[in-house]
Amino acid sequence: MFKKITRRNFIWFSLGFVAAVGTTKVTLNYHSKQKILALDNPTKDFTVIGTSSLKERAAAKGLMYGTAIRNHHLWEDSKLAETLVKECQILVPEWALKWYIPNPALRPEPNIFDFSEVDKILAFAQNKGLQLRGHTLVWHESLPPWFQDTVNSNNAQQILEQHINTVVGRYAGKMHSWDVVNEAINEGYLLVREQKNNIPNNLKNNLRKTPWLELLGDNYIDKAFRLTHQADPTATLVYNDYGLDYDTDADEAKRNAVLNLLENLKSKGTPIHALGIQAHLDASETNFNPDKLRSFLRDVASLGLKIMITELDVTDEKLPSDIEMRDRIIAKTYEDYLSTVLSEPAVTTVITWGISDKYSWLSDFKPRPDKAAVRPLPFDANMNRKLGWNAIARAFDNARLRS
Ligand code: G3I
Repeated sequence: MFKKITRRNFIWFSLGFVAAVGTTKVTLNYHSKQKILALDNPTKDFTVIGTSSLKERAAAKGLMYGTAIRNHHLWEDSKLAETLVKECQILVPEWALKWYIPNPALRPEPNIFDFSEVDKILAFAQNKGLQLRGHTLVWHESLPPWFQDTVNSNNAQQILEQHINTVVGRYAGKMHSWDVVNEAINEGYLLVREQKNNIPNNLKNNLRKTPWLELLGDNYIDKAFRLTHQADPTATLVYNDYGLDYDTDADEAKRNAVLNLLENLKSKGTPIHALGIQAHLDASETNFNPDKLRSFLRDVASLGLKIMITELDVTDEKLPSDIEMRDRIIAKTYEDYLSTVLSEPAVTTVITWGISDKYSWLSDFKPRPDKAAVRPLPFDANMNRKLGWNAIARAFDNARLRS
C-alpha cells in the first residue's frame, strides 16, 4: 500500500520539512515583529504641562505615587535619594522586609531579627515626610535557608505569629500598608489548564501550592490578615498579586480566581482593605483590553476594597533595539495602562518597582537578547526623566480627583 520510501526520498522529505518549519518560524517572527512595530507611534504627543513632580501631580488628584527602594542605594546614591524625595510620597523596601534577602537578612535565624536596615529606611522616610509600606509578610519566595528544616505543621502557626507580631508590631502606627500575603493564587496558565481538565474552579484548587498552604491549610490567608490587623490596627492590609492586566486566557482566569479569593475573604470578615495589583507590564504585549480591566477593577471596588498599583514597570525585553522607539512604546504602555486603571476611583496609589533603569530587577530577571541595558522605568540610569515619566505625569494630570 505504501510506496517504499527510498533514502533519497527521505532526505528530500526531511529537507522540505525543515524548510517549511523554518519558513513558518520566520513568518511568525516577522508578524510578531510587525505587531510590535505597530505599537510605536512616532507622532504620539507626550507633552507635559508645568514643572510639577509626580508626587505633586498625584497629590493634586488625591493619589499617591512612590517607588520600591533597595536599602543600600539610599545611602550610596545621593542623586537617587534626592530624586525619590522630590518625586515620591511613599516608599516600599524591595528587599529589607522580606524574610530573607542577604546582607542583612531580616530573619537570619528563627529567633533572630535584624531590623537595622528597615529602621534606617523608616528614619529616612519619616525625616523626608514620606510614607512607608511593608512588603511582604507571607510569600513562598525569599524564605530563609533554615525554613525548610525548621518549620513544620506543628510549629508553623507559632513561627508565623512570631514573625507578624515581631515585625508588624515593631512598626505599628508607622506603616501606610502591608502586603500581608503575596502571590497566593496559581499562575494563570495553570488555572486555564485546570479549567480544560474540568477541575472544579474553586478557591482550594486556585491556591498556589506554597509551604504556607501545605503547613497551615487554605485558611492561612485569613489567619495572616487577622494576625497583622491585631499587630497594627492602623495599617491598610493588602493582598498582592500579578498577572491581572491583559486580555489573555491566563490573565482572565487569574482575575476571576483573585476575585473569588477576595469575595471569600470578605464573606468571612477578614480584615482586608485593598488589592495590590503588581502590574509588571510587557511593552510588546498587544492583548490589552481597557474595558475588561476596568470591569475587574469595578468588581474589586464593589467589595469595598481599595486598589493599589504596587510594582509597576514595563519590560522592553522583546522590543527592537532602537532606544527612542523603545522609550516611546514603553511610555505609551504606561499611559494606556494608567489612564485605564486611574479611571476607577478605588485606585489610590501607584508605585513603580524602582524609579531608575539603573536599579531594575528586570536587568537580571528579564535581560534583553541584545544585551542592551533595559529601560523599564521613569528615569534613566543617570536619573534623567524619560518619556515614561511624561506618560505617568500625563496620566495623573488627566485622572479624576479622588473624593
Ligand atoms: O543580595 C544577595 C547577594 O548577597 C547574593 O550573593 C545573591 C546570591 O543569589 O543573592 C542576592 O539577593 C538577591 C536579591 O534579589 C538581590 O539581587 C536574591 O537572591 C534575589 O532573589 C532577589 O530577587 C528579588 C526577588 O523579588 C526575590 O525576592 C528581586 O530583587 C525583587 O525585585 C523581586 O521583587 C518581586 C516582589 O517582591 C514580588 N513581586 C514580583 C517581584 C519581581 O520578581
